[in-house]
Amino acid sequence: MLADVVEYLICPVCGAGLDLGDRVLRCARGHAFDIARQGYVSLLTGSQAPGTADSTAMVAAREAFLGAGYFGPLSEAVAGACRTGARVVADAGAGTGHYLAGALDRLPGAVGIALDVSKHAIRRAARAHPRLGAVVADVWRPLPVGDGTVDVVLNVFAPRNGAEFARMLKDDGVLVVVTPTSRHLEPLVERLGLLSVDESKERRVAESLSGHFVETGRSVHEFGMTLGHGAIEAVVGMGPSAWHTDPEDMRRKIIELPKTSNVTASFRMSIFQPTP
Ligand SMILES: C[S@@+](CC[C@H](N)C(=O)[O-])C[C@H]1O[C@@H](n2cnc3c(N)ncnc32)[C@H](O)[C@@H]1O
Ligand SMILES: [Zn+2]
Repeated sequence: MLADVVEYLICPVCGAGLDLGDRVLRCARGHAFDIARQGYVSLLTGSQAPGTADSTAMVAAREAFLGAGYFGPLSEAVAGACRTGARVVADAGAGTGHYLAGALDRLPGAVGIALDVSKHAIRRAARAHPRLGAVVADVWRPLPVGDGTVDVVLNVFAPRNGAEFARMLKDDGVLVVVTPTSRHLEPLVERLGLLSVDESKERRVAESLSGHFVETGRSVHEFGMTLGHGAIEAVVGMGPSAWHTDPEDMRRKIIELPKTSNVTASFRMSIFQPTP
C-alpha cells in the first residue's frame, strides 16, 4: 500500500516530502496527487507519458505469462540478489510488479516501490503485494523517490537511468539489472520473426550506467520451457515484438507451430554498486 512507502516518496514538482491524506498525497507546498481507486498514485507531471508505456493488451499478456510461473527461476534469482536485511526495494519499470512481489516475499520486513510509466501496468502492480506501493513515474525524468532512501533498485527488461538510480540508492545499496541474452526465446525468434536481442546490448547496459555504478557480479540464467500456443501468444504479446506485429498475423503463424514447442529462456543478471 502507498502508506508503506509514502515516507520515501517526494513531490515531483518541488522535491519536498509527501504526506498521505484522504485519497491524496500532498507536499508542504500544497502540490497534491490523487490516489486512484485502485490504490496507485500518478506522480507524472506535465506532458503525457512517453510512447513506451505498455498497453493494456501487453500488460494482460504479461500477467498471464508470468502468473503461470514460466519465468519462476528468474524470479527466484532476482529475489535472491536482494540483500538480506534490505528494507526498501524499488523496481524501475516494474510492469505488473511480479519480480518486486517475489523479492518482498523473501524479505519479510521490507517494503517495495513499483515505478512504471504505464498506468495499466501500475494498476496491476498495486495489488501484487500488500507491502508494495505503486507509482506512475517516468524513468527519463527525476524519479519521485528521496535521495539515499533505497537499499535495492530492480530493473528487469526496462529502461535505465543510471544517475537517478544512484541518487535513490543508499551508499551501500545495490542495483540488479536483468536483460535477455541473444539466446532468449530460441527458437521462436527465428520461427516467428520476433525482434532479436543484438549482441551490443550488454555494452549498452554497461555504458548507460558507467560513471554512476561499478559492476560487482554477473550471472546467466538459462532454462527450458514447454510452451503451448496460448503461452507463446502471451510471451510474444508481452515482449518488444508486440509493438511491431499485427496480432492476427502473429496468431496465424503461431497456429502453424507444433502443439508445444521447447523454448529457451535466457537472461543475464548483473549486480551494480554505486561508485563512491
Ligand atoms: C518489458 S516490460 C518489463 C516489466 C517488468 N519489469 C517485467 O519484467 O515483468 C518494460 C516496462 O517498462 C515500462 N516503461 C517503458 N518506458 C518507461 C519509462 N520511460 N519509465 C518507466 N517505465 C517505463 C513499460 O511500461 C513496461 O512495463
Ligand atoms: Zn511540491
